[in-house]
Amino acid sequence: MTTYRIALIPGDGIGTEVLPPARRVLDAVSRRHGFRLTYTSYDDWSCERYLCEGAMMPEDGLDRLRGHDAILLGAVGHPGVPDHISLWGLLIPIRRAFRQYVNLRPIRVFDGVDSPVRSAAPGAVDLVVVRENTEGEYSEIGGRLHRGLPDELAVQEAVFTRTGVTRVVDYAFGLAAGRGGRLTSATKSNGIVHTLPFWDELVAERSAGHPRVAWEQEHIDALAAKLVLDPARYDVIVASNLFGDILSDLAAAVAGSIGIAPAANLNPEREFPSMFEPVHGSAPDIAGRGIANPLGAIWSAGLMLDHLGHRAASEDITGAIASVLATTDVRTPDLGGTATTEQFTETLLELL
Ligand code: NAI
Ligand code: MG
Repeated sequence: MTTYRIALIPGDGIGTEVLPPARRVLDAVSRRHGFRLTYTSYDDWSCERYLCEGAMMPEDGLDRLRGHDAILLGAVGHPGVPDHISLWGLLIPIRRAFRQYVNLRPIRVFDGVDSPVRSAAPGAVDLVVVRENTEGEYSEIGGRLHRGLPDELAVQEAVFTRTGVTRVVDYAFGLAAGRGGRLTSATKSNGIVHTLPFWDELVAERSAGHPRVAWEQEHIDALAAKLVLDPARYDVIVASNLFGDILSDLAAAVAGSIGIAPAANLNPEREFPSMFEPVHGSAPDIAGRGIANPLGAIWSAGLMLDHLGHRAASEDITGAIASVLATTDVRTPDLGGTATTEQFTETLLELL
């Protein structure tokens, strides 16, 4: 039987509450589809560890992950630790070292979920944000000068490379072609005069390889407004690291709750493990109460199975998510219900 080695990193807060449900779902579908998953859980790679030992993960952390087929992560972040430390101490090093340059974030308005947006009818909104995940605005190049003095300053350089933009744009065109859909490129080349005109040029250049994909570019400010006013018009959106980050939370909110949204950090060449994680963070405001919505983590696990080559198993998972929302009124509080994480997971498992 094919066996896949999965690294689990629950992290902090509700990250530790949503990974066990994802694992239960994975175990159920893998049995049915005739493959096996084995897990190594890195339970102490977290802010708690940082507070005790000064590091989010051990020094050889990346080497320990390297031999796995995929990584499933909950969330990191704790009110006592600055967010840039938790992010740059764990998540960002994994994304970069393993060349996970595509951050794929599918968004759907499911039947049975009320979108806060009136025009977002169930079934009509089904889009994917493809976020560049290793460069762009999230760069280490820059610095601080004259700390604490009146002329204190901070400089941070955005980095856009031909290789980095080309590969993520190619991925997005390929995805749009496979969906028979359209591609929208998020830009701001009116205000940002060097990097984003370069981005636009590369999108136009790569479009030549996909003559059947209709594409357009939109400035990020107008795109943000249109995503609220008319979300159904979008199919695949490709965006730089920062724009993609913001757009995917916005789109997740349009879909009803950030608790549902999944993400795949992909190394499309499969030289390294890819990483799957819900879009949401550690939610300290509800952590420890057992009421976190597990669907984002469960759907992320589904994306993982798709990446491992088990599309049918992955579709079982999205099917169960759709049917728990459409056919029951069991919901966690973020979706207006009173169910616990455990009750919601049980109901989904029964439907699965
Ligand atoms: P957040 O996503 O943790 O929470 C935002 C709001 O959404 C909160 O009111 C929370 O209760 C709610 N929420 C999020 N996920 C939910 C779920 N599954 N079920 C029900 N409600 C849910 O974002 P926030 O508050 O900006 O960040 C909290 C911490 O998480 C910070 O330390 C931040 O740096 C970290 N973070 C980590 C991420 C990651 O590990 N990938 C991503 C985003 C934030
Ligand atoms: Mg984000």
